[in-house]
Amino acid sequence: MPRVQPPPSCKVYTPSRLARAMVEVVNEQNRVQRWLEPSCGKNAFIKAIRDLNIPRAKIVGVDLDVRQSKLDCLGMVSRGEDFFSWSKRRTKRFDCVVGNPPYVAINRLAQKLQKSATEILNLDGSPIGLGANTWYPFLVQSIRMLRDQGNLAFVLPASCEFSNYSEIGRINLTSMFDRVDFIRSQKPLFEDVSDGSVILICRNKGGKSRLFRRHEVADIDSVIERLGKLDSTKAKACPVEPKTCKIANTKKCSEVFEVRIGGVTGDASYFVMPDSRRKELGLPVSAMTPVVSKARQITLPLHNLKSWQSQRENDERVWLFRPHGKCLKHEKVAAYLKRTVANGGCNKKAYKIQNRSPWYSTPLPENVDGFISGMSSAGLWMCMNEMPNLVATNTIYVTSFVEDLTRAEKYAWALSLMTSTVNRQTKRSTRTYADGLSKLEPGEIEDLMLPIPPKIPNAVSLYRKVCSLYLNNQKPYAIKMADDLVLR
Ligand SMILES: C[S@@+](CC[C@H](N)C(=O)[O-])C[C@H]1O[C@@H](n2cnc3c(N)ncnc32)[C@H](O)[C@@H]1O
Repeated sequence: MPRVQPPPSCKVYTPSRLARAMVEVVNEQNRVQRWLEPSCGKNAFIKAIRDLNIPRAKIVGVDLDVRQSKLDCLGMVSRGEDFFSWSKRRTKRFDCVVGNPPYVAINRLAQKLQKSATEILNLDGSPIGLGANTWYPFLVQSIRMLRDQGNLAFVLPASCEFSNYSEIGRINLTSMFDRVDFIRSQKPLFEDVSDGSVILICRNKGGKSRLFRRHEVADIDSVIERLGKLDSTKAKACPVEPKTCKIANTKKCSEVFEVRIGGVTGDASYFVMPDSRRKELGLPVSAMTPVVSKARQITLPLHNLKSWQSQRENDERVWLFRPHGKCLKHEKVAAYLKRTVANGGCNKKAYKIQNRSPWYSTPLPENVDGFISGMSSAGLWMCMNEMPNLVATNTIYVTSFVEDLTRAEKYAWALSLMTSTVNRQTKRSTRTYADGLSKLEPGEIEDLMLPIPPKIPNAVSLYRKVCSLYLNNQKPYAIKMADDLVLR
């Protein structure tokens, strides 16, 4: 029977300089330690350990991938091994565990791997369950494989700071080690991977100091620099009894609303225009669809006919040329369609345009309940859509609630998006650019865990109030109000 192999998505390998810096932090020069890399891949960590002159026999590597690496000879590497099954057969403990485990949702693994991953018990002895991601049982089991005084260094996804399934880990970690450091890089650590990462360093298992420090740095270079200075940075002592902070009852955003990008015109300068241009071209309103095309147009708690008309009067680009039916015969519409590129016509060779029929009909999202700007310095909020035929072009994301909800229920969820619970998560997953703008992809928004709001009868007026404060430089006050309403 062919062996189960790891999914391709988990094959992201740690840059050697990062592996070296992590290994150096947990290495103790005055004693020879036994090392474990539980998913060694192409052996970036094993090479870094061997470079410290650690004997080959003291370095153990495991990987599910059967393909050998030329560096396998640097340690005792077992291939084609599932770490979870392997670890259950071992009694020997290690002084150091280092690595970058796979980040795959357990429910997406092959049946056999799912079974072995879910058999790993959480730190409090409860089952971890199918809803977790593979990195979490990897971390839990690696901690178990550490002997007292042992050290651990792992690369983890940014979601480890807020995912519900890893809550028990977050609560207990500091009470299991002398010192825990958490280094979050604002920029992704891996080429071709847009998600954020965290370096977790846990030292001296069984120690009682309960020291913790969270570091936030810009990029991989600063992570490496910080790792080199870890001993000279202070850490705070955590309370003796681990705080069982109240975690709100949450639901994954994608189960509440979908986030998609607005319509892709393929040639915005031809299709999207202000009212003055529409009039200049003599295009009838029936050939146009009202749109939002800029983040500033949705810097509002809600958008309705009145606010849209005011943007039209201010000559914002609020129209999308999208003729259909009878208006195709309109003389000015026909003339605009016939224009050549040289004469201000459409570039029909553009990738998105040449593949659609008819070329002038931009596909648009339906049932738009709200708008979100993925790129913003203000943070994350939903501008609720109160104008039935209003859509957005692709600079803006549109949202649609998955279930049939009342107006008050929709606004209550929009309030949930402004709570501190969500704010903490977005801070961790946004990439911040030099100009202070932050970017969140639709998938990252859909991955957020939203506190389930209670019934808020006057949710619409409360949302208007909270969101106006949020957008008018009173964000902390707005977040506090959202917390009071949603996390009751
Ligand atoms: C993110 S890569 C990291 C590889 C290596 N640790 C590094 O940092 O370069 C994850 C590795 O986990 C391996 N893997 C996936 N599932 C595994 C399992 N159940 N047991 C052992 N290794 C596994 C994959 O083959 C892959 O090499």
